[in-house]
Formats: sequence, structure tokens, C-alpha cells
Amino acid sequence: MSLFDRILHKWLFRSLANQLLITYLLVITIALMAVSLWALVAIRKESLTDLQNTLEVEAVNLGLEIDNDLVLDSPQARRRIQTAVERRATRLGVAIVVVDKDGRLLSDSSPPMALKNLSNEQEINEALAGVISNTTRSEPASNINWLYVAYPVRSMGETTGVIRVGVALTEIERRLKRDLIVFLEIIFATGVVTILISLWLANRVNRPVKEMSALAKQISISGDFSAFLPVSRKDEIGELCISFNQMIGRLREQERMRQEFIANASHELKTPTMAIGSVVEALQAGAAEDPKMRSQFLQSLERLTDRLTSLIQDLLDISKLDSGAEARGQESVSINALIAEAVEQVRAHAEKKGVDLSLKLADGEVPDSSEGAVAAEPKIVGNYLQLLRAITNILTNAVNYTPEGGAVSVTSRLIEGKVSVRIQDTGVGIEPADLPHIFERFYRADKARTRETGGTGLGLAITREIIARHHGTVDVESTVGKGSSFTIQLPLR
Ligand SMILES: Nc1ncnc2c1ncn2[C@@H]1O[C@H](COP(=O)(O)OP(=O)(O)OP(=O)(O)O)[C@@H](O)[C@H]1O
Ligand SMILES: [Mg+2]
Repeated sequence: MSLFDRILHKWLFRSLANQLLITYLLVITIALMAVSLWALVAIRKESLTDLQNTLEVEAVNLGLEIDNDLVLDSPQARRRIQTAVERRATRLGVAIVVVDKDGRLLSDSSPPMALKNLSNEQEINEALAGVISNTTRSEPASNINWLYVAYPVRSMGETTGVIRVGVALTEIERRLKRDLIVFLEIIFATGVVTILISLWLANRVNRPVKEMSALAKQISISGDFSAFLPVSRKDEIGELCISFNQMIGRLREQERMRQEFIANASHELKTPTMAIGSVVEALQAGAAEDPKMRSQFLQSLERLTDRLTSLIQDLLDISKLDSGAEARGQESVSINALIAEAVEQVRAHAEKKGVDLSLKLADGEVPDSSEGAVAAEPKIVGNYLQLLRAITNILTNAVNYTPEGGAVSVTSRLIEGKVSVRIQDTGVGIEPADLPHIFERFYRADKARTRETGGTGLGLAITREIIARHHGTVDVESTVGKGSSFTIQLPLR
């Protein structure tokens, strides 16, 4: 590759605008050249036909004037022919030749040409055979193109001679050359205008694209989403700018949520850690000497480490769900076995709290009267441990937020290819203002109360994430003072 080639290659393929420019230029030039060529050929043909017709009319008129003299073949007749030929030739600026029926030259308007042997010329031979003939040819002596029309003069069904009228094509050719120059000028001017328009257009398209790419580069280097792109247009580029800004907005929102999550998580971790620190300090300060106090402090140490462990487990679960790492574990899960196990897990806790726990499963009794409509063993596809976690979180809440003497019931039903699990309690209920937020991370309806029970506000967030991954939904209804009802719906296999 030569240096020029390399520069051209670089110039062309580094810029979209240049590629467009070259394409436009090529298409326009080729189209204009084709049109010009066609026009020139058409003009030339048209002019030649016009000229031919004129020459033919001239030949016919001359034929009418000299046809008698041609038959006579006397010196006087020849002189009359010569006079007529010269008169017409000078009047019209053409060259006229007359030959007799044997091809011998009788008269010539321009003497030097008379030296030639005319019987060899094709158009005269054709005319002698009786047809009007015309031809264009370059005369070797002058290198000028001529148009000839040869006309047979006939008398009583016989060809008595041929009149050939010729004209030099210099004038037509000059005109065609002039037209060609005009066409080339138009092509050149169009090319220049195309280049200017393309440059303007390219600049218009390129500027926002360059701004966008600069901003994207800045974001990728510094991670700073503070700037938006200016949107000043309504076309596709404007739309792209809007989408780009929406993407920046989304990134900002995600970044804000990430920072909030870290702040919340550190805060939640700090509380029990500091409490452990003070208990250890108290033990060191002498509380360990007294057996009663020692066992009390050790118990609270155990509670605090349990809380820390479960908090760390929640955080790990959330980050695993976020990264999608556990999304793969797909198995066939028996929904009733799952619910039964979840209930068993919280049973001890419920008994300790004095909360009644009841269970009603879909295939224990057929929910609708149509016989055999329900499969004996409803199954879903998913991750058993995750689903168990999702249900226990809701069940634990139900027991936690229900005072002594209350009741928690779990029912499962099959509706239209779905299983619906309902966990209902007669607990404290949730304020309408809190309801839309309880599935958010770290959200607790009653901050003071839940501190006692040790909640961090991650349980329902984890549940919602898991259920969403299994293409299901979680809904809640609640009345303050009466109780809450959570419903999970999952598609059956
Ligand atoms: N059955 C319920 N009755 C009343 N309030 C509830 C119930 N379930 C959830 N809540 C409210 O919703 C909030 C969020 O519940 P979530 O399970 O996410 O957090 P948590 O129970 O406080 O903490 P943890 O992360 O330990 O589960 C709770 O703090 C509580 O205020
Ligand atoms: Mg909870």
C-alpha cells in the first residue's frame, strides 16, 4: 500500500461522513455522466436527421430541375447542370456532385474533389441501384467529418443519374463540444455543491455523535454520571440523545441505590457489633465474676451473634440474588412438601410465642367440586431452598408481628395453572402508608418495635426477589389492628 492509499484509507474508513460523501459523489457523478452521454448522443442524432432531411429536399429539388438534362447528355445540358449545381451549392454552403447512370462525374460544385473516383463510394453505388442513401465519413485529406446524401434521379422507371449533396459536420461537432463542456461544468458544480451539503450534513450528524461518545468516554473513565447530553433536535439523533440521557439517569439511580444499600448494611452491622463490644467490656470489667450476671451476659452475646449471623446471611443472599448466581438451580419442587417444611421450621417459634399455626393444603381436599380436576401433587419448577426461604420469611413475619393468642393460617389453592399460597395472620397489621414500601430493602414499618424483635427489613425484599425469579408475584393486604394477608402466586409446571 502506498502512502497515498494509506492516507485515503484512513480518511475514508475513520469517518462515517466521508463514506457517505464519497458514495453520494460517486452516485451523482455516474448518474449525471450517463444522462449527459445520452443527451449528447440524442442531440447528435437529432441534428444529423435534420440535416439529412434538408439535404434530401435539396437533392430532390435539384433533381426536378436537371432530370431532363441528365437524359439529354449534351454539352449544353451539362453546362446547365453545372450552373444549377453551383448556384445551389453556393446558396446553401454545401458540396454537390452529379454523376450519370454509369457513375461518371458530370458536375461538381467544388472542383478539387472531382479528381476522386466517385464510383467507389458506397452511397453513390447504392443510389445508382435506386435507393436514397446517406453516410457519414471522415475525409482523409482534411480529416473533417462529412454527411452525404445520395439521391437517384429517375425517369420512366430508370435511374438516370445520382445527385449527392454533402455538408461538413464541423458546425454540429463544434456545438456538441460546447454542450459537452456545459455538461462537464454542471457535473463539476453539482459535485462541489454535493461536497458542501455533505460536509454541512456530516457536521450536523457528527457533532452530537461526537459529544455522545465524549460523554460516554468520560463516564467510562471517571464513573461520573453528573452530566446529561443537550437535546436540541427532534430527529433520530435527538431520540438517541434522549435514550442516552435515560440510560445515564438509570445508572445514577442504580448508583444511588447501591450507595444507600452499603450505608444501610454497614449501619445494621454496626449496631450488634457495638453491642457485642459493650457486653465483652462489661464481662472484662468484672461481670464475669458473678455467675448470674455472667450467664445473662453470655446469653445476650449469643443473641447478638445470632442476629449478626442472620444479618450477614441475608446480605449474602441478597448479593447472590443480585448477581444472578443462584438462578441456575432448577428442579421440580412439590409445593405442598415445601409449605409443610416451612411451617415446621417456624412451629417451635410460634408455640413459644403462643400463636396458633394451621395449615390447609391444596390436595388435602379438592378445592372445587369438579371431580378429578386437580392433580394429586402440584409441582413447580425452581430452586427448593430459595422458595423455602421466601415462604419462611413471610411466615416468620406473620408469627413475629402477631401477639400472643393470635393465629396464623397457611392455605394453598390451585387456580388456572397457578398455585396460590396465602399466609394470613391476626397480628398488628401494616399502616397503608407503609404498605407500598415493605418490600424495599431495609424498610421497617415500625422502627422502634422491630428493633426489639431484631428485624432488619431485608426479609420481604429477599422474598420478592426470589418469587420474581420464579415468574411469580407477592401481594399483601392488611388492616391495622386486625391482621395481614400475604399471597404468593407461582406458575405450576
Ligand atoms: N405480617 C406482618 N404484620 C405486620 N407487619 C409486617 C408483617 N410482615 C412485614 N411487616 C412489616 O414489614 C416490614 C418489613 O418486613 P421484612 O420481613 O422485610 O423485615 P423485618 O421482618 O423487619 O426484618 P427481617 O429482615 O429480619 O425479616 C417489617 O419491619 C414490618 O414492619
Ligand atoms: Mg421479616
